[in-house]
This record gives sequence, C-alpha cells and structure tokens, in this order.
Amino acid sequence: MSQRRLFVTTALPYANGNFHIGHIMEYIQADIWVRYQRMQGHEVNFVCADDAHGAPIMIAAEKAGKTPQQFVADIAAGRKPYLEGFHIAFDNWHSTDGPENHALAQQVYLDLKKAGLIDTRTIEQFFDPEKNMFLPDRFIKGECPKCSARDQYGDNCESCGAVYAPTELKNPFSALSGATPVLKNSEHFFFKLSDPRCIAFLKDWTTSGAVQPEVLNKITEWIAPGEDGRPKMGDWDISRDAPYFGIEIPDAPGKYFYVWLDAPIGYLASLKNYFDKTGRDFDAFMADPSTEQYHFIGKDIITFHTLFWPAMLHFSGRKVPSQVFVHGFLTVNSGEKMSKSRGTGLDPLKYLSLGMNPEWLRYYLAAKLNAKNEDVDFNAEDFMLRVNSDLVGKFINIASRAAGFLTKRFGGQLTHSFDTQGAALLQALRNASSEIATLYQEREYGRATREIMAMADQVNVYVDQNKPWELAKDEAQNDKLHQVCSVLINAFAQLSRYLAPVLPALAVQVEKLIGQKLDRWDAAAEVDAIAPYQHLMQRVVPEQLASLFEAPAAAPEPELPGGEAIAPTISIEDFAKIDLRIARIVDCQAVEGSTKLLRLSLDVGEGRLRQVFSGIASQYKPQDLQGKLTVMVANLAPRKMKFGISEGMVLAASHADDKAQPGIHVLEPSAGAQPGMRIH
Ligand code: MSP
Ligand code: ZN
Repeated sequence: MSQRRLFVTTALPYANGNFHIGHIMEYIQADIWVRYQRMQGHEVNFVCADDAHGAPIMIAAEKAGKTPQQFVADIAAGRKPYLEGFHIAFDNWHSTDGPENHALAQQVYLDLKKAGLIDTRTIEQFFDPEKNMFLPDRFIKGECPKCSARDQYGDNCESCGAVYAPTELKNPFSALSGATPVLKNSEHFFFKLSDPRCIAFLKDWTTSGAVQPEVLNKITEWIAPGEDGRPKMGDWDISRDAPYFGIEIPDAPGKYFYVWLDAPIGYLASLKNYFDKTGRDFDAFMADPSTEQYHFIGKDIITFHTLFWPAMLHFSGRKVPSQVFVHGFLTVNSGEKMSKSRGTGLDPLKYLSLGMNPEWLRYYLAAKLNAKNEDVDFNAEDFMLRVNSDLVGKFINIASRAAGFLTKRFGGQLTHSFDTQGAALLQALRNASSEIATLYQEREYGRATREIMAMADQVNVYVDQNKPWELAKDEAQNDKLHQVCSVLINAFAQLSRYLAPVLPALAVQVEKLIGQKLDRWDAAAEVDAIAPYQHLMQRVVPEQLASLFEAPAAAPEPELPGGEAIAPTISIEDFAKIDLRIARIVDCQAVEGSTKLLRLSLDVGEGRLRQVFSGIASQYKPQDLQGKLTVMVANLAPRKMKFGISEGMVLAASHADDKAQPGIHVLEPSAGAQPGMRIH
C-alpha cells in the first residue's frame, strides 16, 4: 500500500476547565487510530488545541480576576500530565487564540465574503445595561414562559423542557449583573448556509461517505426543505459584539467572530503552527489533493462539523474533511449522565495517581468502542473483569508461561524449527493480519480486541495441550519444550503487534523482551532470542477501583473559624432573602436599666429613622458610634423588647466562646458606602 498523508484532529476542548474522562476517551479513540495508521507506514499529523474564545471563558476569566489570555494559559499549562499519562501522542497542541488562527479565520471569512456568502442583518437582542454588553442566551435568566419555573436559562427550561427564545422569558434578568436586560438592535454577520449552493454542496459531501449512516440521517433532516420550501437549517449568525474574547472581523470595528467560527479553523492553525515549527510547508500540504483530513468528535457537536465546517472550507476554496468520526458519550458506572462541563465520576488524574495502569483504560475503552456514535459506559466490575481475565489472564500470561523456560534452559535462544501444530498456529495468527487491520481502519476496536482475544484463546489451548511445565520435567522432551516455548513467544510477539495501537507502552516493553521492533504492521519477523523476562502487567485490584470512586476524603477536622462551625449551606436565593443595608448611626444612647444594650437610631435612606437595640454596651460607649456607618438587617421582623421595639439588627462579629476571645466588633463599610445601599 502506498504511503498516505493524513491530518487528524480531535475536538478542541474549551479552555475553561481541566480534561474529564469524556475528553480522554475521545483522545484514546483517535490515538489508537493514529498509531494504527503509523504502523501501516502512513504519515500522520495529529493535532489539537485549546478552544480559547467566547463569552463564557471571558466571563469566567473576569470572575477569576485574570485576563482571558492568562486564564486560558493557566488551563493549557495543566494539559500535559493527562496527555502523557494516557499515552496520547499529539504532534502538536496549540490555541485558537494563537496568531495563526487570527490570520486564518480572517482569511477564511474574506474568502467566504468574496464568494458572496456573507450577509449582514440587524437583529434585536438582549443587552445588559449595567455590564454594557449583549447577553449570550445562557447569561439571561427568568421565568419559563410555559411553566413559570423561576431561574431558567434563556434558551430552554430545565423544569419542563420547553425551548424558547430569551425574549420570551418572563421577568428576564442578566445572570451577570442582575439588571433587567433591554432589547437593543445590532448588526450581525451571517454565513448564508441556506444558499442553494451550500445546500447542494452539503448534499454531495454528506452522501460521499464522509459521515456515518446514523449521522447522515440527522443531517438529511436539517437540510431537507421545510414547509416553506427552504431548508430547516437557516443562515448562521457568525458575529458577536464587543466586549468579546475572540477574533476581530476585518473592517467591522467592535465586531468579533462567534467562537464556533474560529474554533474549527483552530485545527488548521494548530497544524500550521506545527509545520512552521518543524520547517514544513503548510500551504503545500493542504493544497495537495491526496492529503486526507479526519476529525474525531462527540455527538453533541455534529452540526458544527458536518454542516458549517465543510461548507466554510469548501466555499473558501479549501480542502474539505475526508471523514468526520462521531463517537457517543462516556457514562460512568451505568448511565449517571456525565455533565459535559463537570465530567463527574472518574477523575483521570486520580486514576493515574492511584498507580492504575493507563493501558488498562485504553484496553477497556477499545474493547467497548465501535464505529457508531453509541454511548459507552465505564463499569467498574466489567473493567476489572476484562483487564484481569482477558488482557492479563489470556494475553500477558502467554509470555510469562514461556519466557522462564527459555531463559533458564536455553540461554534465552529461540528455535526456528517449530512443531507442526505450533507452526500452523503461528500461521493462523499471521493470516489474521488484514482482517484486524480493517477493523482498526474502520474504528471497530471492540471487534478487533475480541478477535485478538480469540487468538489468545487458541494460543492458550496450545499451551494446555502441550503443557510446557510437564515437558520441562523430562530431559527427553527438551527439544519439544524449546519448540513450544519458542512458538509461544512468537505468538505473543504477534499479538503484541496487533495490540500495539491500543497498548503502546506495553509494546515498547515487549520490544525489549524480544529484541525486535513492533512498530510496523506487516513486519512479522521471527524472534531469535529474548531478554530475561520482567513482569509486564499487574492485575487490577478491587481496592484501586474502590478508591477511584470513593468521594474525596473528608477534610481533616478543621480549625473552627471563630470557634464556631460553618452553618449549613444555603442557596443564593436564601441569602437574597436577607436585606442588608448600609445604615448611619445618627444617634446612640445608653439604655437605662441595661448594662448590655445600646439604643441606636439608624438612617437607612428611608426618610425616617429606625430604632434598634444592640447588645454591644460592653464594648462601645455611645459617643464611639455616633455618626458612624454600619450594616443592618433591614427586613428582620420587628421585635418587642423590654425597653421598646427593635426594628432590625446591627451586624457585629464575636467569637463563639466569649471567654476564650472576648470582644464584639460592629461592622463598618469601607469609604464611599452610603446609607440605604444594599449589600449583595
Ligand atoms: N470546544 C468545543 C469543540 C470545538 S471543536 C472545533 C467543545 N469542547 S468540549 O470541551 O465541550 O468537548 C470537547 C469534546 O469532548 C467534544 O467532542 C465532546 O463531544 C467530547 N465530550 C465531552 N463530554 C463527553 C463525554 N462524556 N464522553 C465523550 N466525549 C465527550 O465542544
Ligand atoms: Zn418550564
């Protein structure tokens, strides 16, 4: 087969959090495919990058008190241990905020504009008058127009499942500032996806074998004409207004590309960055018609990759993807749907830190993956079973059963003259090469591992029939023992080669054992000698899985802050019930008949004064407080006391154990606060 030139990517993860196990599954799936292609002698350029732009990241950075650039750089700095830990061999990791992507995105846009596929339209959108920005749907909240559930997002109701436009929400508010959003016009840029040229192209491309059948079904719905004869999928809004963390649209001050426009262009940018660093010609590579382009993605981002992206590429005069490979979602321990952003369940770094072998996970996921976009469940018991009985029990044990005899009895030398049965067995193993190859090529890893384990079963039958441990007891059987053990090591080498895309680190250990490379699919040379055997792989122990899934250890008994445990968690709604106000202590008097209380007259900007009794006389003299600002609970039910009615409460700090740490401290706001201001 002639050498192919491949460009392979996985989806670019949002740079607002660490990897979760769903990301790792996607990378492992792609990495197995890439390693298989390399074993076939093909040139593979395998890249990824952080998806840096967009409003959520901009807002998260602001909350963290960082620039967006610093925020995404900090996330990027944490990527390495995951990728190295699970043997994921990207050639390059870049960022969509890199200079290559800025230039490429602007160029793609200008090319699309030239092709007559960019339109501008004025749209009406919610605007946060306090933050001075247009609000993305997920930052608008309000009451569901259907069921009136409160605190729902701008695009759908989590309570009744209704889908609506943010403008339909009742009592909408900005999730950023709490302000009531106002409708405001803005000019937006659109990519004319519903243009007949785009539809014609998409019909062509999607039926060319570029997508899986189940994906094609979905796409067909989207591009099929609706009742009005126009495709259900409309034009695509590709612009956002400043402030936005993104790439500026040329000749349109204050306008930025919507993150999903520049994100897939980040695939090209990462490849360009890689080629520039290694002195290769990116433009020539991408212009070469024989270059193949593949994207591994999850099922939630199909539209972006099978409609927008190929159309963007095609109409900007670029190569279109050869295939988009869509996988399903990983769930952990049967179905507890993993949150896309939080990825609960199985923490990849914890897995590694427990000393669990990354190749167990690679093998287990391979055993469960196929070419469809079905969900995959990580089940702890199933995991242990497959690793311990298949991977170690059937496969690794082949080597451990033969290597000792070869080292002790034959100085590590193998014979090339095999018994008939053994020779036939090896031949059968080698004959499976093209079938296994096809399964890898088609991403049918589950079937590939099953075929390989079926071969391991055959080898184990041969072991049981020939019983090397019996042969070893009889001097006269020396030759036979030599043959059987030599067959076993050759069989083990062949199976290791078949598993090398899944178990790359094991393959390297086996290479040391047999003194031969396993990095070419069809180079099945016979093994001449082995190095002394060292244990190749441990079994999973149940305790490891127990620790993996156990909730993080309870923190050690904490130093009690102020001598008092923190009260049970409340929601923001609970807190919002307490109306705290800045109050001026207009007057302060001792209370006759009480050594504890002071009588305060407070101005909270209501145009009247409130009387509040406060138990602070041990600490303050009336004149200490007069004229000062403090904080009061303004909506506390009035309380009748011996000396009169108290209409609220002044906030003061004290230690739970008054004797351990005496003292009481009235709160004072910092300069600039005015009576009546609310505390949020
Ligand atoms: N930033 C976009 C992709 C831009 S590509 C130009 C994005 N990022 S993501 O971090 O949310 O997801 C990255 C990839 O991880 C996607 O392919 C997504 O489908 C995949 N997964 C996220 N959760 C997953 C699981 N639970 N299981 C498997 N893959 C999942 O989307
Ligand atoms: Zn609802």
